[in-house]
Amino acid sequence: MEVNYLTGIKPTGRIHIGNYISAIKPTIEYLKENDNKTVYFFIADYHALTGNVNPSELNFYTKNLMVSYCAIFKYFENQIFTGKNNEIYFYRQSQIPEIFELYWILSCYTAKGLLNRNHSYKEIVENNINHDKDPDKSIYMGLFNYPILMASDILMFQPKYVPVGKDQLQHIEITNDIAQKINHYYNKSIFNYIKPKIQDNKFVLLGKDGNKMSKSNNNILPLFSPVNEIEKCIYSTKTNSKDEGEPKYPEESNISEFYKAFATNNQYESYVNDLKNGISWKQAKDTVLLEMENQISYLRRNFYYYYMNNFRLVKEKFEYNEMIIKSEANKMLKNIKEEIGMEVL
Ligand code: ADP
Ligand code: TRP
Repeated sequence: MEVNYLTGIKPTGRIHIGNYISAIKPTIEYLKENDNKTVYFFIADYHALTGNVNPSELNFYTKNLMVSYCAIFKYFENQIFTGKNNEIYFYRQSQIPEIFELYWILSCYTAKGLLNRNHSYKEIVENNINHDKDPDKSIYMGLFNYPILMASDILMFQPKYVPVGKDQLQHIEITNDIAQKINHYYNKSIFNYIKPKIQDNKFVLLGKDGNKMSKSNNNILPLFSPVNEIEKCIYSTKTNSKDEGEPKYPEESNISEFYKAFATNNQYESYVNDLKNGISWKQAKDTVLLEMENQISYLRRNFYYYYMNNFRLVKEKFEYNEMIIKSEANKMLKNIKEEIGMEVL
């Protein structure tokens, strides 16, 4: 099966608008604009194990993400599937053990030095050193090897594009480095190279504390939060002290990025004009809240809660898809094993 888009999200917290902008929205836009395309959308549950997760949280967030995927893509059904041959497959990484077999093969061609350069790993080492601690403190092999598992998620299915946020760019580069190493070693093209699909090269969405919005930083604007939580987050977003009547610019507050996540291009342009024409920050925030609620309240009520209350439907969808993905993974792995001389024919 030719895979056009593939991406994953970790079940380490509730899905938030950073995830929406980087992984979900581009996939929806792509399916809207195209026909005969296949998309894989998965839950990176084994990646989640590299953090501190307690079992009931992992379970809750996995369920939450499964429901979110079903709700969001069902909401857009008319625009992306009806009358078209587009297909989307949902699965949990942990249900496809072939990925972990490929992971081992890839690890045998991944130089330790390549992973030493990984930003998230380097950051922890540097932090340890700055605090006079053992550089290896709190570093587990799962965290160190994280990029190899991600390479396996991707190379297993050879998607054309991987829509991710800018923070994941280095992981895609590592994926291509590993693919290249293997192709070079066997002197044949076993793996294709992967193109990241990054919405905006400059930016990752920040949370209200000014750090990257991330489930692990606990500063997220969850996609399906109740309206009072959304309100709190929007109205506490930092702005400067310009008054009504003074021209304002989108880069002066993160609030414009929140709006961009939901607005059409035309809506966003007119919002930027309004800012330049001096609307107050309060009015700018009202507009964001209104647009988000416009879109999310319907999705939340009619799809998200519906699937939460009918989780059996979600589970069936995932299990059925996982059967198909597993058989695809099996074929791919068999090919690779043949290429490297492991299958005795
Ligand atoms: P988190 O950092 O919240 O745990 P994940 O690591 O599961 O989220 O990321 C899933 C997808 O969402 C990835 O493509 C990632 O790049 C993207 N993403 C996560 N946080 C942000 C953000 N603040 N801005 C833009 N994209 C993000
Ligand atoms: N590492 C990604 C993140 O933290 C999640 C992920 C795991 C992923 N495997 C992937 C994303 C494969 C895209 C493709 O955001």
